[in-house]
Amino acid sequence: MISIVVAMARNRVIGAGNRLPWSLPEDMKAFRRITTGHPIVMGRKTFEAIGKPLPNRTNFVVSRDPALSIEGCRTVASLDAALDQASAPEVPGHDQVCVIGGGEIYRQALGRADRIYLTLLDRDFEGDARFPEFDWSDYRVLSREERADPFRFEFIVLQRR
Ligand SMILES: NC(=O)c1ccc[n+]([C@@H]2O[C@H](COP(=O)([O-])OP(=O)(O)OC[C@H]3O[C@@H](n4cnc5c(N)ncnc54)[C@H](OP(=O)(O)O)[C@@H]3O)[C@@H](O)[C@H]2O)c1
Repeated sequence: MISIVVAMARNRVIGAGNRLPWSLPEDMKAFRRITTGHPIVMGRKTFEAIGKPLPNRTNFVVSRDPALSIEGCRTVASLDAALDQASAPEVPGHDQVCVIGGGEIYRQALGRADRIYLTLLDRDFEGDARFPEFDWSDYRVLSREERADPFRFEFIVLQRR
């Protein structure tokens, strides 16, 4: 199964200046819970935003630069190759491959994802990276939980019909 894990503002913004535009500790916790033990696939810019490999997850970084090498990560030349390698039986937790961004990678992965772990913020943010438009009717809602701190947001799990 391929899962997208994303936090998105009401206006679809997911990033600004290669950073998250908000600080939501509860969402960071949820991200850790969802992804730990599973392979994670990210774009090179998202890796730079995070700055280090995330522990207890096989980190795949997608880049068109064949010379790129990052200690603690597997660098891959295309998203397709990353998804293939991440779902190989020897990769711990390969039953669920987590695509963790950013915008360019989400755009290419959306059509292949079975599930979206969406943290939906009930606020607009300024930014330069966005999550692609999608048709909600293609998905059924597996769960939906509201939070109010430090502002209203929701944890929504969407499964492709
Ligand atoms: N809110 C969230 O949940 C969330 C999650 C993740 C990231 N973000 C935010 O999103 C922003 C980053 O997103 P972004 O769209 O700018 O960048 P990105 O998707 O993280 O990375 C883009 C890079 O990935 C590589 N790439 C993309 N498609 C490829 C392909 N088909 N084959 C090979 N390489 C490919 C290229 O790397 P090279 O240039 O090295 O070739 C490209 O420059 C940041 O602001 C970050 O904080 C937010």
